[in-house]
Amino acid sequence: MLKLEGLHTHYGKSHVLQGVDLEVRDGEAVALLGRNGVGKTTTLRSIMGLTKPSGGAVTFAGTRLDRIQPHLIAGLGLGYVPQGRRIFPNLSVLENLCIGLARPPGKAALDDIYSQFPILKERAGQAGGTLSGGEQQMLAIARCLIMKPKMLLLDEPTEGIMPKMVTTLKHKIRAVNEAGISILLVEQNFVMALALCPRIYIMEKGVICYQGTAQELHDNPDIAHRFLGVAVDNR
Ligand SMILES: Nc1ncnc2c1ncn2[C@@H]1O[C@H](COP(=O)(O)OP(=O)(O)OP(=O)(O)O)[C@@H](O)[C@H]1O
Ligand SMILES: [Mg+2]
Repeated sequence: MLKLEGLHTHYGKSHVLQGVDLEVRDGEAVALLGRNGVGKTTTLRSIMGLTKPSGGAVTFAGTRLDRIQPHLIAGLGLGYVPQGRRIFPNLSVLENLCIGLARPPGKAALDDIYSQFPILKERAGQAGGTLSGGEQQMLAIARCLIMKPKMLLLDEPTEGIMPKMVTTLKHKIRAVNEAGISILLVEQNFVMALALCPRIYIMEKGVICYQGTAQELHDNPDIAHRFLGVAVDNR
């Protein structure tokens, strides 16, 4: 479904991605982990064409994304929930939901979103900025889902969110994946990533330094310790 082959990206002279190879198959949930500043967000931005790659290939559902205009990418069925959520604080929840759509959503489409995220129905008329961090994250995810994507790129959805909400978000993201939408999840929350994603990539300084299954990482805590600096309690 999504394939990155030898992807290179520069910010000016700074060579941030140095040949990233990564694949997400149809229906899969895959995590991309790594310490701060290794290039996870840059990888997602390069996929979406927001930062233009300087080499390599990004292919999504048979189309070379690095060869088309960025504004066409969402229309191919790829949704992007950026780090920090980027909702519009002064627009209502409903306006935020509809912002990417060419025309207002039908009742069925809205009902579908509201059944997945009842809180957004309750708060539909309220300014987006008055929602809690976790609710804003749900709004950012819902804003993508309303466009009926085949795949979602999620950049640190649990960053800065209270623990109780993290569990709720985990269930919501799992439900999205179980509905058949592929997921590429960038996370610092190692436990959450392992719980959601059977397959894991770890990045270090612009390259993939490890790939394996969640089970392998769970069974070999030294790997996570070495590449992520996290201690894993798997008793
Ligand atoms: N717009 C930019 N201009 C120049 N350098 C940038 C820009 N954005 C990111 N960088 C640099 O590129 C590197 C990778 O950044 P990136 O945001 O992709 O990392 P990350 O893995 O997402 O980190 P984090 O976990 O903190 O979100 C960092 O060294 C960062 O300082
Ligand atoms: Mg980032």
